[in-house]
Amino acid sequence: MDGNGRWAKKRGLPRIEGHRRGVETVRRTIETARDFGIEYLTLYAFSVENWRRPEEEVGGLMNLLEYFLKRETSTLIKNKVRLRTIGRTEDLPPKVRRELERTIAATADFTEHTLVLALNYGSRTEVLDAAKSYAAAIAKGDVDPEDTSWQSFAQHLYTADLPDPDLVIRTSGETRVSNFLLLQAAYAEFVFLPLFWPEFDRAAFTQAIEDFNCRERRFGRTGDQLTAESTDTKVATSHG
Ligand code: IPE
Ligand code: MG
Repeated sequence: MDGNGRWAKKRGLPRIEGHRRGVETVRRTIETARDFGIEYLTLYAFSVENWRRPEEEVGGLMNLLEYFLKRETSTLIKNKVRLRTIGRTEDLPPKVRRELERTIAATADFTEHTLVLALNYGSRTEVLDAAKSYAAAIAKGDVDPEDTSWQSFAQHLYTADLPDPDLVIRTSGETRVSNFLLLQAAYAEFVFLPLFWPEFDRAAFTQAIEDFNCRERRFGRTGDQLTAESTDTKVATSHG
């Protein structure tokens, strides 16, 4: 989710106003993802690098997060959406942690749709945390150092129980990954949109999915092999 600040600046508004509008886009995006039958939606809401922003903006983002959780929990419950987080959430302000814990507990039993908020998230931090945890498992004798594998290492990532993303969308016209799910997105398709996050709507989401649906995902194999085996991950964008 990128471009809140520039969206506001273009209109002569304070950056926080862009973030406010960004929250509305979040609500809309969760709804659209649910309508499309997308099982996992991950939103990169706050990175480990975002602490470097002015204190006022960081505080504003934390307030918005608290506000979002307070206001949206009932909608998540109504729509049977489970909330999860990835990132070092232990370093978030206590009031935010409290709301997160509350919403996570209230939605824990839903299985159909999962909303993952990446909060105080960074891939490199995640890899460090995972390496530490993997090393501890090896030291404890739970993992044989001669028998390491990506599968067993991935069990130590924040995303241990989450599937890899099929599609990564970045708004705002930037064409960078910015420390987001670097390992998990090894085989993801990327869509970069020239829209600011507050402008990302159902039509843009639909377009991104249709673009994704047109791509041949070979996962290292040849096109001919794919015809023989089905690895289809296409998403229907129209119903009825
Ligand atoms: C939203 O957009 C990103 C966050 C949720 C922190 P930005 O705040 O990065 O907006 P730009 O890039 O300055 O326009
Ligand atoms: Mg930005």
